[in-house]
Amino acid sequence: MTKPLPIIIDTDPGQDDAVAILLALASPEFEVLGITAVAGNVPLALTEINARKICELAGKPETKVFSGAVRPLLRDLVTAEYVHGRTGLDGPVLPEPTMPLQKQHAVDFIVETLMTREAGTITLCVLGPMTNIALALNREPRIASRINRIVAMGGGFFEGGNVTPAAEFNIYVDPHAARAVFDADIPITLIPLDCTHQALTSRVRVEKFRVMKNKCGPATAALLDFFERFDEQKYGTDGGPLHDPCVMTWLLKPELFQSRDVNVAIECESELTMGMTVVDWWKVTERKPNATVCRSIDADGFFDLLTERIARLP
Ligand code: RIB
Ligand code: CA
Repeated sequence: MTKPLPIIIDTDPGQDDAVAILLALASPEFEVLGITAVAGNVPLALTEINARKICELAGKPETKVFSGAVRPLLRDLVTAEYVHGRTGLDGPVLPEPTMPLQKQHAVDFIVETLMTREAGTITLCVLGPMTNIALALNREPRIASRINRIVAMGGGFFEGGNVTPAAEFNIYVDPHAARAVFDADIPITLIPLDCTHQALTSRVRVEKFRVMKNKCGPATAALLDFFERFDEQKYGTDGGPLHDPCVMTWLLKPELFQSRDVNVAIECESELTMGMTVVDWWKVTERKPNATVCRSIDADGFFDLLTERIARLP
């Protein structure tokens, strides 16, 4: 077996973040160096607790969890309790965490890890607003050339937005951070709504988690039961898009995705289109490709992998 891939998960749990973290912790292909919480779906005080709840649910209380940015770089924080519930992890009843929160700030952890570990070996899995990543780049610009790759859930192009007609939530919350990341000449894989809206948590798929004999299966079903109700209503579909686990899946099985290397620019001027990912899919500009943008996913392959991995957990 090849050496596990060292990853840092930057996240704003959120039920879909939680399932992504479970997938990562269940997969021996990853060495999870740390989980860095950011304000997004719910305030930071909750996202850092939620990250620890999920690590304990997965039976991995030794995982290092760090608290990061409490608000976006410039804009006021916008949260999504209307989707994720007041706690951000509504659905299952999970005990308050007993594992410690690390004392080091998340941004310092990201910088220190990238500057001390071998260059080009660490992948950042970015599941929320990119504030921590932008702050780390600002703190130490040299990390840009030391990051192996950023794989991020965010944006949308032909699919449009989910928080405004033009913008997806992660990018909308902190467009200035996203612009700094896309302008930093770092290898990026972007998994936008065009892709994640094909990964729907249908009844049949959720039942496979519910009937598992472990704790994590039924807990995953309870997370998805709550999380999907908003999008089922909004889109009139059987199930809702399971966004964030697509990030880990791209690293585990990239063959499940179709993508193209194109330019992505972030709108930061107009309130009408604030946070829009302007994706030059048809290469009609001279703008240099700066991301591998995924446009489709094999949803059955995705859920087969996710089901097999969640079944491995306690
Ligand atoms: O737009 C979906 C994204 O915003 C997901 O990462 C979800 O967790 C929220 O952060
Ligand atoms: Ca998220």
